Amino acid sequence: MTTKKTDVSRIDIGLSDTQRAEIADGLKHLLADTYTLYLKTHNFHWNVTGPMFQTLHLLFMDMYNEQWMAVDLLAERIRALGFPAPGSYREFAELTSISESEGLLGAKEMIRQLIAGQESVVRTARAMFPVVNEANDQPTADVLTQRMQIHEKNAWMLRSLLED
Ligand SMILES: [Fe+2]
Repeated sequence: MTTKKTDVSRIDIGLSDTQRAEIADGLKHLLADTYTLYLKTHNFHWNVTGPMFQTLHLLFMDMYNEQWMAVDLLAERIRALGFPAPGSYREFAELTSISESEGLLGAKEMIRQLIAGQESVVRTARAMFPVVNEANDQPTADVLTQRMQIHEKNAWMLRSLLED
């Protein structure tokens, strides 16, 4: 008597193959944005100068530490959907909507660039909702909601630093 083997290569979680691919593709962009913003924030933690040094050095550290944990969450969601996660600077540079900063920047310009970066990540996450909602992919929606909440809060905190 032969027992029928389970086909482990087939993923059947109630999403179509097309839906899984589209959602994973969106998550790859979100991962690349988050990683690029992580690196930029860590760079600014190292290189910030001026009278706001202590505040910004520590605030940027809180943000890059949180983002460092988030890239793992995003990459592992891509894996759970059955796709390889991008993990090289070349892939991230191709996928991200956030441009790298060049040269040494003043503290206020760093803050402005980080606000723009936070908002870019939020837009990338928000753009995924039509396909995620259509597919009833609540686990991905949960991840997106968490990421949007954090980046919108970060943008508010950074923006507050530039106000009188
Ligand atoms: Fe440090």
